[in-house]
Amino acid sequence: MHPPASELLGWYDRHRRVMPWRGARDPYRIWLSEVMLQQTTVAAVEPRYRRFLDRFPDVEALAAAPWEAVAAEWAGLGYYARARNLHAAARAVVARGGFPGDEAGLRALPGIGAYTAAAVAAIAFNQPAVPVDGNVERVTARVFDVRDPLPGSRARLAVLARGFLDQALVRERPGDFAQALFDLGATLCTPRRPACALCPWNAHCAARAAGVQDSLPAKAPK
Ligand code: ADE
Repeated sequence: MHPPASELLGWYDRHRRVMPWRGARDPYRIWLSEVMLQQTTVAAVEPRYRRFLDRFPDVEALAAAPWEAVAAEWAGLGYYARARNLHAAARAVVARGGFPGDEAGLRALPGIGAYTAAAVAAIAFNQPAVPVDGNVERVTARVFDVRDPLPGSRARLAVLARGFLDQALVRERPGDFAQALFDLGATLCTPRRPACALCPWNAHCAARAAGVQDSLPAKAPK
């Protein structure tokens, strides 16, 4: 049984963390934030996100810039492949006359993977998608007490996470639902010592009922 999204969204409405990309609906801004957040913490991303937007305020400006300028602006963020893909995708977006408005179209852009496509579709375009990052995998593994280890359990966790779309409220607020899952994973359902007493889903969490929340998600031995 999926826990009620209403309880998570109610918690999110009371506790949502303020971030510069929240409230934006501009797909360029959402996309940029999601790419930066893939391997960098929220705190480290915030100033760099603002600076990047000062320099490249829209997808046209990014597409028109030479690679060297983009690389210079990315300096220190690491994972230059992300910046390369960002630049290539910006050019593809401009060439096709704008962002695709759904998950499949976004997924077809260079370097945009399943996670980013789902995040932009849900947050910028209100499309029924559930982006699954490490936070969402952890929350899902615990709520459903999935004991198979990562990475083998990844596909199953994604199916379970997508199952929330059966709830009308999630289809109405897919972007908020996604960000509520991120916030839950980042602030309460943390890798170590999760704060179950404060969790809006504590009464629905199968791992907590079994007392195994601390050990999930399990990781396959290397
Ligand atoms: N991590 C990745 N995307 C995020 C978002 N939109 N809000 C908070 N944390 C995130």
